[in-house]
Amino acid sequence: MAVTAHLIVRRGPGADAPSSRYAVPYTPGQSVLDGLRFVRQALDPSLSVRHSCISANTCKECMILVDGKVAYACTARLEPREMVLQPLPNKPHLRDLVTEIAPPDERLDHALRTLGRAPGGTPTR
Ligand code: FES
Repeated sequence: MAVTAHLIVRRGPGADAPSSRYAVPYTPGQSVLDGLRFVRQALDPSLSVRHSCISANTCKECMILVDGKVAYACTARLEPREMVLQPLPNKPHLRDLVTEIAPPDERLDHALRTLGRAPGGTPTR
């Protein structure tokens, strides 16, 4: 019988956020990000997850709460049990597991203001 991990994905911060439950195949050594990528590829392409380096642990974009603790999804181990995943609670929530993690002075709206442009292309001066 195939071993399964059950991912409960809260699609927002807080305990009352809407959630989705996914059963994903489990193989020892897999990461939570591996499970989330399986969900996107095979079960629910609408699930938003941010990652760039895919398990090199260099981009730091996959940070989420795993069972209530801050973790990198690419280094947290997938386990054959129920795991609760949630976006970071202290960052602006964008969608599902994705939060705004760029420092304020590195965001596009800041760059546009610095260049004298409002977001949307309208000159501000
Ligand atoms: S995917 Fe880059 S640090 Fe996790």
